[in-house]
Amino acid sequence: LANQQWGGRFAEGPSAIMEQINASIDFDKRMWQQDIRGSLAHSEMLANVGIISEQDKNSIHQGLEQIKKEIQNNEFEFSRALEDIHMNIEARLAERIGEAGKRLHTGRSRNDQVATDFRLWVRDNIDEVIHSVEQLMLTLALRAQEYADVPMPGFTHLQSAQPVTFGHHLLAYVEMLSRDKGRLIDTRKRLNESPLGAAALAGTSFPIDRQMTAKNLGFDHPMRNSLDAVSDRDFALEYLSALSIMAMHLSRMAEEIVIWCSSPFSFIKLSDAYTTGSSIMPQKRNPDAAELVRAKVGRISGALIGLLTVMKGLPLAYAKDMQEDKEQVFAATDTIGLCLAACSGMIADLKANTDNMRRWAGSGFSTATDLADWLVQKLQMPFRTAHHVTGRIVGLAEQKNVTLDQISLADMQTIEPKITQDIFSVLSVEASIASRTSEGGTAPKNVLQAAQYWISILKDH
Ligand code: ARG
Repeated sequence: LANQQWGGRFAEGPSAIMEQINASIDFDKRMWQQDIRGSLAHSEMLANVGIISEQDKNSIHQGLEQIKKEIQNNEFEFSRALEDIHMNIEARLAERIGEAGKRLHTGRSRNDQVATDFRLWVRDNIDEVIHSVEQLMLTLALRAQEYADVPMPGFTHLQSAQPVTFGHHLLAYVEMLSRDKGRLIDTRKRLNESPLGAAALAGTSFPIDRQMTAKNLGFDHPMRNSLDAVSDRDFALEYLSALSIMAMHLSRMAEEIVIWCSSPFSFIKLSDAYTTGSSIMPQKRNPDAAELVRAKVGRISGALIGLLTVMKGLPLAYAKDMQEDKEQVFAATDTIGLCLAACSGMIADLKANTDNMRRWAGSGFSTATDLADWLVQKLQMPFRTAHHVTGRIVGLAEQKNVTLDQISLADMQTIEPKITQDIFSVLSVEASIASRTSEGGTAPKNVLQAAQYWISILKDH
């Protein structure tokens, strides 16, 4: 049987394989709400400019409202033969209300329709993702406030570098996530223009009012060029780029969680709710959720590369290739939602093993920079010389198997005779972190302030 929406010049229907490769209804039904919103706005406009009658518009609106209910109640029968969400809804409308339903598509093409629906969908979901990011940021900020003065080793090259506080470390992720949120806000601004009315590619001879539909759908204005309006998916690519960067951040956080709870580190303990056991080793508590967050960035950046590859080299205007945009975006949206929720859960529940963190914060001669700074400040030594002298003291401490605050004054004086007892005031972990008061530094009072800043911004969201 030829397609009931466009089968006029077709004697036969599609082969089963054709239907299978062509139909998008199995996934694009997720845009049903956006499709109905678009059709309500379009028909409202058609009536307003006199292209369809008020009466027809009213029955279209009633019909669409009924279809909305059918879909909500799981009573709608989606059909693969009708290809996609647009034709499924339109066919059902005609079935319900007759002639008037067949007037809905006047001055419109599926090309501007799908571009409109998809923009609306991405816009709606950006709002949701932003909400979840804010949840995670708040969770991190609250834990940072709690652990504002808890020392932990700060690493470079994953080697002990200088002590920091756990709160400071958690807040570093809040900053990253706030930029991720900023990228989503930018994406939303740029995508918020209306393709509706571009029709197939060239515009239409009907006296449509694109300003009206744009406004009705919450877009800032109609897109200026009809070819561009139906051809580009850069908004989806931008969205996927923003999600990819965010997922990369989450995967770094997840990796740190994995490291922190591995038993040789034992910096944190995850809750039972976010841990799994082993089928053979009874002692095990595995951080599977963190490992999966670490891994799932692959799906999201994969979606970005997937869609970039689809779009690359496509001639203007619409081509069916572009139907491949949606699954990537849907999947990436689901994945980021799950990752954000898992991170929020893990962070909210984790317990810091503060004694252990404190102990390791002093390991690896982590206050050597403080020693060098003391030589500069108290003995007016040039920093390069101080660096060298400190290196020799560290070597001696290593030889004697003691930490920097355990080495004797006499021993230090064999290397630099002008060193006095006062040096010990800077060699402890607490003194080291308390001294890092420069803007953005790890001193507990800075960290507390930063945590409170974020909490005050985020708590009302
Ligand atoms: N399902 C199609 C898509 O997602 C809708 C647009 C179809 N347009 C067309 N000219 N075949 O891209």
